[in-house]
Amino acid sequence: MNIILLGPPGAGKGTQARHLVEKKNMIQLSTGDMLREAKNSGSEMGNLVAEVMARGDLVTDEIVIGLIKEKISGEKGGGFIFDGFPRTLNQADALGKLLEECGENLDFVVEMKVDDDALVSRITGRSSCGNCGEVFHDITNPWPASGKCPKCFGTKVVRRADDNEDSLRKRLMEYYKKTSSLIGYYYAKGDHVSVNGLASVEEVQKSIAAVLDR
Ligand code: AP5
Repeated sequence: MNIILLGPPGAGKGTQARHLVEKKNMIQLSTGDMLREAKNSGSEMGNLVAEVMARGDLVTDEIVIGLIKEKISGEKGGGFIFDGFPRTLNQADALGKLLEECGENLDFVVEMKVDDDALVSRITGRSSCGNCGEVFHDITNPWPASGKCPKCFGTKVVRRADDNEDSLRKRLMEYYKKTSSLIGYYYAKGDHVSVNGLASVEEVQKSIAAVLDR
């Protein structure tokens, strides 16, 4: 089963994708994570995208489609979770072609609906484990008092350079200008379903599980 998690920054795509990886042995393909990895490696492409990402702009279609192409052809498992990809109509068309070439289908596009107001506090309060990437929130799911990640016992907390109000505003604008039209695109294809992303993490997990069980 291959699915897309679609939603604005902070909708909970990464949080839900990690859960599906654990529970269903699916493969999370997060273009944001891939780009951050490239940035941290200091590669030529990483240096090229670092400033774009910090501003909250979208990286070029060519770069992200190239990253996804590499991963799709190299990995198999319990299906792919596309997290943060596609983000433009070009990317959506490219994904359709890539899946077809691999003999794969897209099963569901799960739109995670969240009010803009909730996104600000989610993004500005986010942190993650520098070792395994487990996601935390200062108020709703704080880093444990023990100082150790409950998943991997790592001790390094990281915050993303673009997790501030200015970048978030730009990321939201990019979402509404370039990505939200994908909701209609996938609705017309018959792949679209939506879940209430404002519910608790566990409730959202249940809603997505119900979709996947259809
Ligand atoms: P990316 O890394 O994809 O970021 P994003 O889409 O902005 O999404 P986030 O990772 O910020 O949010 P999320 O929905 O995963 O939320 P999370 O689960 O962490 O992209 C970053 C940048 O890379 C882009 O701006 C762009 O420059 C570039 N890029 C990436 N892909 C690209 C592409 N395809 N094309 C071009 N450029 C691309 O949750 C957020 C917080 O909320 C956490 O603290 C979490 O604990 C909390 N939370 C989660 N769920 C709940 C809940 N149900 N209730 C309460 N709190 C919750």
